[in-house]
Amino acid sequence: MTQFKSPIRKAIFPVAGLGTRFLPATKAMPKEMLTINDRPLIQHVFEEAKEAGIEEFIFVTGRQKEMLEEHFDYQPELEQTLESRGKTDMLKAVRDLEIPAGKLFLTRQPKPLGLGHAIWCASKLIGNEPFAVLLPDVLMRGKTGCLKQMVSVYNETGGNVIALEEVPEDETYKYGIIEPGHDSQNRVEIKGLVEKPKKGTAPSRLSVVGRYILQPEVFDHLSAFERGAGNEIQLTDSMAKLIGKQPFTGMRFDGKSYDCGSRTGFIEANLVYGAHDPEIGEHIKAMVKAMAAQL
Ligand code: G1P
Repeated sequence: MTQFKSPIRKAIFPVAGLGTRFLPATKAMPKEMLTINDRPLIQHVFEEAKEAGIEEFIFVTGRQKEMLEEHFDYQPELEQTLESRGKTDMLKAVRDLEIPAGKLFLTRQPKPLGLGHAIWCASKLIGNEPFAVLLPDVLMRGKTGCLKQMVSVYNETGGNVIALEEVPEDETYKYGIIEPGHDSQNRVEIKGLVEKPKKGTAPSRLSVVGRYILQPEVFDHLSAFERGAGNEIQLTDSMAKLIGKQPFTGMRFDGKSYDCGSRTGFIEANLVYGAHDPEIGEHIKAMVKAMAAQL
């Protein structure tokens, strides 16, 4: 299976979504620029990808999303100001965020036709090599980043690796759910995949959680533009067609996910990331305790 083991150098970030759940905050501002603690969602996932060794960053973007590319660009006035004021820590933080020339790629998804369609929009930029997908709505908090954990699994198994997390039975209808095979330690063989199963029909409680390592053959199926759950072109459906033809491994993520696409998940993530911040963490914890006592 050596043909399914090339290094993972490229990552796709689908950022074309409208963010209607966060209106009016997202009327003009991309939802991926909403901040969790001190940095926007897109920066959290960018850092996770960088930690995993990703070299090329592909944004599948849309109208009114220009702020995302600005965030990763060289900002000379800002750097000069920080330098002249001796703010070296902040200057380093800003410089670490620059994506070097030739490493950021943008492509557009003109209509919201589904996650599968968004990924297909990047097919020419991926070419014929395996790649990662990171959904910026989902933050994965762990000692080691989720994608880095997945790359370690991939280096052994090759093929496709999907991050998994258990969800309550009555929430399976919101996610991609796997049909598990052999299950040991943090790895689960994937025998089937279903997107947003109807209540009572889910093959397990193991959900796909927004991080993928995929082989380029998935594009052969995405290009059929078949509609699935919610009448959208689903990534899960094209992945399912490769099961049995390529290795497909689920990885139980060692950490916790935060669904920042919902307002409650977003607020929870802010509290958790804030509570672990070396500068303000103690203050946040005391604040949460005091609030809990009053509620
Ligand atoms: C997408 C995927 C789904 C996955 C989920 C994780 O769904 O289609 O398989 O479980 O992300 O957040 P969405 O949340 O876009 O409906």
